[in-house]
Amino acid sequence: MKRDVAIVGAGYVGLPLAQVFAEAGVGVVLLDVEPGRVAAIGRGESYIGDVPSEALGPLVVAGLISATTDYDAVRETDAILIALPTPLSPNREPDLSIVLGAVKKLAGRLRAGHLVVLESTTYPGTTREDVLPILAESGLQVGKDFFLAFSPERVDPGRTDWTTKTTPKIVGGITSACTERACALYERALMTVVPVSTPEAAELTKLLENIFRSVNIALVNELAQLCDRMGVDVWEVVEAAGTKPFGFMSFKPGPGLGGHCLPVDPFYLSWKAREYDFYTEFIELAGKVNENMPYFCLEKITRALNSIERSVKGSKVHLVGVSYKADVGDVRESPALKLIELLQAEGAVVSYHDPHVPELSAHGLASTDLSGALREADCVAVVTAHSGIDYGRLAEEARLVVDFRNATGKAGSTNGRVWKL
Ligand SMILES: NC(=O)c1ccc[n+]([C@@H]2O[C@H](COP(=O)([O-])OP(=O)(O)OC[C@H]3O[C@@H](n4cnc5c(N)ncnc54)[C@H](O)[C@@H]3O)[C@@H](O)[C@H]2O)c1
Repeated sequence: MKRDVAIVGAGYVGLPLAQVFAEAGVGVVLLDVEPGRVAAIGRGESYIGDVPSEALGPLVVAGLISATTDYDAVRETDAILIALPTPLSPNREPDLSIVLGAVKKLAGRLRAGHLVVLESTTYPGTTREDVLPILAESGLQVGKDFFLAFSPERVDPGRTDWTTKTTPKIVGGITSACTERACALYERALMTVVPVSTPEAAELTKLLENIFRSVNIALVNELAQLCDRMGVDVWEVVEAAGTKPFGFMSFKPGPGLGGHCLPVDPFYLSWKAREYDFYTEFIELAGKVNENMPYFCLEKITRALNSIERSVKGSKVHLVGVSYKADVGDVRESPALKLIELLQAEGAVVSYHDPHVPELSAHGLASTDLSGALREADCVAVVTAHSGIDYGRLAEEARLVVDFRNATGKAGSTNGRVWKL
């Protein structure tokens, strides 16, 4: 079967996107550097929670999805979508090396008629200033011989009410012909496509969305720390404010930001802004408040243990949920990892239970049985509230609970052994 689309990067973004195109009858080849991932796709086995193997398998058998490590695969496709990681460097600057390394490989294989779309989250200007010059080395002219656009991915892993297919897709091309080509491709598989005037507008749209979340989460996290001092239940306040039908949007406090997006993406913009002698203070302030949350969580656990005349040193502290959000297994940038490190540094004996994360090899830990922990731990801390865990029982049986997600709800509020964020 002819492959219409190549997707470079078969991860949380690339694999669901391939599924959506394939289900619309568009043939897709996934290109990934990990041979294990390529082999798994070939067997119809998914490693991404949002794409069940039961859905992937038949698409592979029907020839609508294939996978390879060979960049030559893009020679036969009409479109190339790039869904590669955009991390921060150790000194917290944008690291585009993976994306630009791949673009260099694509440039040597670019041909007349190709459409290239960057989907990775990045700062405004990346598509025009960084990607275009590399592709232009092919000698082909953008908007005439080949087409280039930016279209951010907005997927929220684990979410079922809005998916890759139903979430409106923003598209901004280098020229209007580029925008039209890219819109026409996405309209084959996605329900709503929203063109914007430039790639920069599309790039900044995605960053605005993530910064909006980061800033609002920081606001409630700061409020949670004030409420702690004032003896007010922040969860009750947030819930009560959420009853206002207009002019307010609820964000919940928690142990800090996690995942590949929120702790990383805003800093792509603050870095770029400096080129314009501009300081994005909301981004920096939100980062500061959110990054402090694991330290605040440690303080809260310390005070809770103190109330039963225990020190952190030598205490058995059991974390429930270590992935960065409920019902997914992704531990990237998870605040639970930071909290584990802080607790271990203070001499706590740390264990954890997470049905989605069998082991944390870098920390020398593996998920243990919750019932045993409820009997043995000095303190149980709910860090990520996965569904399927009986938090009422947890509040009832554990010696001491510190609940950073309000998972124990009313049971926790009336039980003197439960401390809440
Ligand atoms: N995960 C999310 O929820 C999400 C949501 C919206 C946007 N994004 C953005 O989408 C982009 C991709 O994120 P992701 O979460 O899918 O990443 P990921 O790490 O899940 O997947 C990236 C894939 O690319 C592969 N890869 C790495 N280098 C490669 C190379 N040179 N050539 C081919 N394959 C290579 C990896 O093996 C991996 O399978 C990032 O910019 C991210 O910020 C992510």
